[in-house]
Amino acid sequence: MDMLKQTDPDVYRIIQEEIKRQQNNIELVASENYCSKAVLEAQGSVMTNKYAEGYPDKRWYAGCGNVDDVEKLAIERALDIFGAEHANVQPHSGSSANMAVFFAALSPGHKILSMDLSHGGHLTHGFEKNFSGQFYQKITYGVKQDTGRIDYDEVRELAKKSSPDLIIAGASAYPRELDFAKFKEIADEVGALLLADIAHIAGLIVAGVHPDPVPHADFVTTSTHKTLRGPRAGLILCKSKYASKIDQLVFPGIQGGPLMHIIAAKAVAFKEAKTEDFKDYQRQILKNAKTLSNALKDKGYTLVSGGTDNHLFLVDLSNKNVKGIEAQKILEKAGISLNRNMIPFDGASAFNPSGIRIGTPSVTTRGMKESEMIKIADWIDLAINTPDDQNLALIKGRVTELCADFPLYKDY
Ligand SMILES: Cc1ncc(COP(=O)(O)O)c(C=O)c1O
Repeated sequence: MDMLKQTDPDVYRIIQEEIKRQQNNIELVASENYCSKAVLEAQGSVMTNKYAEGYPDKRWYAGCGNVDDVEKLAIERALDIFGAEHANVQPHSGSSANMAVFFAALSPGHKILSMDLSHGGHLTHGFEKNFSGQFYQKITYGVKQDTGRIDYDEVRELAKKSSPDLIIAGASAYPRELDFAKFKEIADEVGALLLADIAHIAGLIVAGVHPDPVPHADFVTTSTHKTLRGPRAGLILCKSKYASKIDQLVFPGIQGGPLMHIIAAKAVAFKEAKTEDFKDYQRQILKNAKTLSNALKDKGYTLVSGGTDNHLFLVDLSNKNVKGIEAQKILEKAGISLNRNMIPFDGASAFNPSGIRIGTPSVTTRGMKESEMIKIADWIDLAINTPDDQNLALIKGRVTELCADFPLYKDY
């Protein structure tokens, strides 16, 4: 980054600080990951300079031969790893991918049946302050209070009662497998379309360690930067019959020029996702999530649904005399990053909820395994039980030492 250092020492310094933060902290935010250097290089490439409104071989600008090649590669690889009929690789984010699907599948006033935000759903699934809540009527399903799991009979009942136009299967904070085949059955029974939003679990699906929505859903959306470990962006997969509608809704419907550097980086990430290493990585994410969640459970922490089948779990801190916001701050001081999270049937506010969400994609990318998860559980417990500055500094020291054994981006 010599040029950056010379041209803008302020931004250079801030980026250096961020590299240090990422290197020296244990990252447990479930939606984050560390992409490869190859992905970073593609993102930082001259592809950012090219305007390419339109699609490969049908652009509005001259000089698009190279970006056509890279977008075709990204599409081909997305279709290959997901086994889908059609892929649009242009969405700038998971939210834009959802917006394009809603605009393609629905009209204002139509009904969406989706997971309640406070039970693990996402803002773009009908939250009042999001476009999805402003344009569409929302009906929500949640988890059962006694099991912490989705009750598919209840989803069916709700669907029958409310006749939604679109059912969304997908979540930001649900620690159990999603039964996409069951969602499809319900959607068919009530004549609704099915959107699977796999933003969190896309990597698990590609590796075959989570049920696959592609054969069932009309539309599949994802972000590309979580378990999929690509650049910060989105992707839409759909059945061929919706292909032209989706393409029109992405461009010119909701976006202008595609981010060609990011599309190049998506192509790289999709290639990486095809490897055996990637499959091993996803398997290890699951093992790490199981080990870390079980270790915390053994220390008396309450887990929503009692554990996890995927890359994340939710800890209900109600019996620990600490709320989510405080736990997040305490752990940050100890060098452990995660986010506060509502737990289903939370009596507390969304701003300061009763829980925290913990995910293992990032620590697994660094190469950490079960023995490190046990250490991390010990440190979380130590920090939460004794949150004085001296203790937190002590834990932070141990965290930094552990992180030094698992270096990130070695020559940056
Ligand atoms: C289920 C789900 N859908 C969509 C999104 C939105 O993705 P983005 O932040 O890229 O807009 C997220 C992000 O956390 C998510 O968890």
